[in-house]
Amino acid sequence: ASIEKGSFQWSSPSNIALVKYWGKKENQIPANPSISFTLNNCKTITKLDVSKKETNYTFSFDLLFEGKPKEDFKPKIQKFFERIEKYCPYLKQYHFTIDTENTFPHSSGIASSASGMAALSMNIMSLEKALNPTLTDDFFYQKASFLARLGSGSACRSIKGNVVVWGKHSEISTSSDLFGVAFPLQLHENFHNYQDTILLVDKGEKQVSSTVGHDLMHNHPYASTRFEQAHTNLSALKKVLENGNLDEFIKIIESEALTLHAMMMTSMPYFILMKPNTLEIINKIWKFRNETNIPICFTLDAGANVHVLYPENVSEKVLQFIQQELVGHCQNGNYICDQIGNGSQLI
Ligand code: PMV
Repeated sequence: ASIEKGSFQWSSPSNIALVKYWGKKENQIPANPSISFTLNNCKTITKLDVSKKETNYTFSFDLLFEGKPKEDFKPKIQKFFERIEKYCPYLKQYHFTIDTENTFPHSSGIASSASGMAALSMNIMSLEKALNPTLTDDFFYQKASFLARLGSGSACRSIKGNVVVWGKHSEISTSSDLFGVAFPLQLHENFHNYQDTILLVDKGEKQVSSTVGHDLMHNHPYASTRFEQAHTNLSALKKVLENGNLDEFIKIIESEALTLHAMMMTSMPYFILMKPNTLEIINKIWKFRNETNIPICFTLDAGANVHVLYPENVSEKVLQFIQQELVGHCQNGNYICDQIGNGSQLI
C-alpha cells in the first residue's frame, strides 16, 4: 500500500528500572540485562502527521513541543532517523510534523527520552502498518521496541507490558538485547498497582547525560563485576516478582539504586549525582521502615530525584509520611504520584 497523508497519535509512559541498565556496547546493545516497572501517569503524547513528498533525498520534519516549534530537539530526532533508516526505508518519502507534549512538568528532572522515543517509535510503526496492513501485532510491538532502543536504550521498555525485561538473560528465554519483552511470569498480587511516588529533589539540567554515563563504564575498574551482579540480581528479582517477598524485593531494589550511583562515584571522571536532600530522604525512608515495618523502599535514576516504591494497600499511611516528612526535602515541595501501568496506547 502507499499513502499520501496520514495522522497518528500515541501516548507512551516513562519507566523506572529495578535492575539498572548502565553501560552499553555498539548499536545500543546493553552491557547487562535490566528490568523495569512501566509507569502510568508520566507520559509523552506524540502526534505524527505524515505527507508524501516529491523527492526522497533527505529527512524532512518539523518539531513542535506543546504546540510551539522546538529547534533544539531536532538534532536528536535527525540522528534517530539516521539510525533507523535501514529498518524503515520509507522515511525519506515523507514529510513529518511531530507534535509532542509531556504529562509531567517540563523541567522536572524526569527524563522524557524514554517516553518520547517510545511514542515516536509507536507512531512510525503506525505508518509502517498503514503501508503494510498485513503485519502482525507481535511484529508491530517488537519492532516498535527495537526502534525505540535505537533512540534511547531504556525507551525499549516503554512499549508494552507492566514489567519489562531488556537484555539477554539465561533464565528468561524470550529476552533479547535488541528489544524489551514482557516479564514472562505471573506477577504476584503484592505488586498489583504498585505505587511510585517521585520526589523532585532537583529539577536542574542533568549533570551527566546518560550517553556520557554509559561511556564511563568503558574501562571502569568494577565494570565486569557490576555486569555479573545485574544478572544475579535479575535472577533473584524474577523469583521475588513471582513469590511476592517484599523484604527481598527491597534489598535488591535499593542495592541496585546505590550501585548505579557507586558506579558514577568510582568512574574517571567521577560524579556525585545525589544531593543532600536525596540522602535526607533515604535516611527518613529507612527510619520509617524500621519503625513501622511498612515495606517501602527507594530507587534512583542517574540524578538526585527519589522514587518511593510501595504496595497499594499501605498507600494511605505512606502518603501521610511522604507529605509530613519528605515533601519538605523536595524542590518547591514538588512530587508526582504514579503507579505501575501498561505501556503505550493509541489515541
Ligand atoms: O536510556 P538511557 O540511555 O537514557 O539510560 C537510562 C539509564 C538509567 O535510567 C540510569 C537506568 C535504566 O535502566 O533506566
